[in-house]
Amino acid sequence: MRILIINGPNLDILGKREPEIYGTMSLWDIENRLKEKFSNVKIEFYQSNSEGPIIDALHRALDGVTDGVVLNPGAFTHYSYAIRDAVAALKVPVIELHLSNVHAREEFRRESVIAPACKGVIAGFGVRGYELAVEYILNQS
Ligand code: DQA
Repeated sequence: MRILIINGPNLDILGKREPEIYGTMSLWDIENRLKEKFSNVKIEFYQSNSEGPIIDALHRALDGVTDGVVLNPGAFTHYSYAIRDAVAALKVPVIELHLSNVHAREEFRRESVIAPACKGVIAGFGVRGYELAVEYILNQS
């Protein structure tokens, strides 16, 4: 089992960034917590503030050994057709994930141009969302 977890722009500063919305855990804390909880799974974490490297990371899931992808595209969620196309090219399930409940926030966050290409969306459960997404990938089919 190999799961790729990709985080987009501004998620590298989790813990410091609007903690009342995104919580106080750093991305590093989240990564360690997941690797501890799912110690029998190969979990690969990747973060970039740029669109191209996120697309390159998604392409890695075409390797035939990745079982699924958890993707928090950050603000790219709302306008990146290039990331959507990269997701659509994959055969493995991609779960779009948001720490916050994007539907309870500003209007522009309610639309995801990436979600239609994903297996499903998890939003609003904070860091627990990453675990839920990994559990889904582990228990699929
Ligand atoms: C986010 C929600 C996005 O709207 C925002 O731009 C982010 C984080 C979330 O995890 O709640 O950067 O994806």
